[in-house]
Amino acid sequence: KKRVLSGIQPSGQLTLGNYIGAMKNYVSLQHECDSYFMIVDLHAITVPQEPAALRENTESVAALYLAAGIDPDKAAIFAQSHVHEHAELGWMMTTLSYMGELERMTQFKDKSAGKDAVGAGLFVYPPLMSADILLYKADLVPVGDDQKQHLELTRDLAGRFNHRFGETLVVPEPFIPKVGARIMSLDDASKKMSKSNPNAGSYIALLDPPEVIRKKLSRAKTDLGREVVYDPQNKPEISNLLSIYANCSGETIEVIQSRYADRGYGDFKKDLAEQVVGVLEPLQRRYAEIRSSGEIHRILRQGAERARAVAAKTLSEVKEAMGFLPPL
Ligand code: TYM
Repeated sequence: KKRVLSGIQPSGQLTLGNYIGAMKNYVSLQHECDSYFMIVDLHAITVPQEPAALRENTESVAALYLAAGIDPDKAAIFAQSHVHEHAELGWMMTTLSYMGELERMTQFKDKSAGKDAVGAGLFVYPPLMSADILLYKADLVPVGDDQKQHLELTRDLAGRFNHRFGETLVVPEPFIPKVGARIMSLDDASKKMSKSNPNAGSYIALLDPPEVIRKKLSRAKTDLGREVVYDPQNKPEISNLLSIYANCSGETIEVIQSRYADRGYGDFKKDLAEQVVGVLEPLQRRYAEIRSSGEIHRILRQGAERARAVAAKTLSEVKEAMGFLPPL
């Protein structure tokens, strides 16, 4: 059985981009793989977090995982900070990393651009992410396109470790969706959809009420002309909406394209909103049930136990390979 690991930061509202690029694939992979899905709270603190908000957001992401259809009997759902091996292997991966390669990380460049005080945690974020993956000897890591470079680094670090200390770690493969790996902003298809965009109209939050979703999609930017065709070069806005549609309806782009061939943007956007609502409304209902069920803590506790068993084993192999004295 292949092993899968992935994670999402509990730093505010999750978007439809997180769902299509990542979470949706967690749900499908859990059936065939040994799966570990975490809430990466240690990553979230690379930018300042209000303690009460961090707690709330961590529980909220756990509930969203469950609401999206991750089955806690199949996959381990846990908080990264509950498995202290992450921080420990993160340090070791930091010592294997070069300043130059971390300086080249585009996420670091984006997050630090124009700031005069840049937290050191942002800089060493990628080796911590590598540790997350390598601790579980994951074969596959379902992520959106923006995490590809971090996955490359992880592969390099695993290879570097094995070369220096002997075959210990598994070199993972990214699992990136063909359509929807990069869901773009509704107001500008040259930027990725992100919860940190100050214009809330630019993204759909997973917990946006249906009428808000309808309003945001009816206002979504469209390209010149009126043909609904998938052409990311020349019609980036419509192409983005088409990939959202395809992901929500489960149809191919071609089928959708031919359905709206001579109907124009208006009809297409109206139906798109119903497709998105059709996915998110039931998810929101389950979310509300899960939040009020009082089950989340138990599920996170069990998930952490399962995760720790795997993580502890890898960490002790790593320590032995590196030459740390075994516990005396
Ligand atoms: P994060 O929390 O920013 O995003 C979580 C996941 O959502 C994907 N994603 C998108 N996919 C498509 N279109 C978008 N607009 C979009 N926005 C976000 C991201 O690619 C990601 O898969 N560093 C990671 C978290 C992390 C992690 C890990 C992931 C920490 N450790 C280990 C995998 C394995 C991050 O910041 O994701």
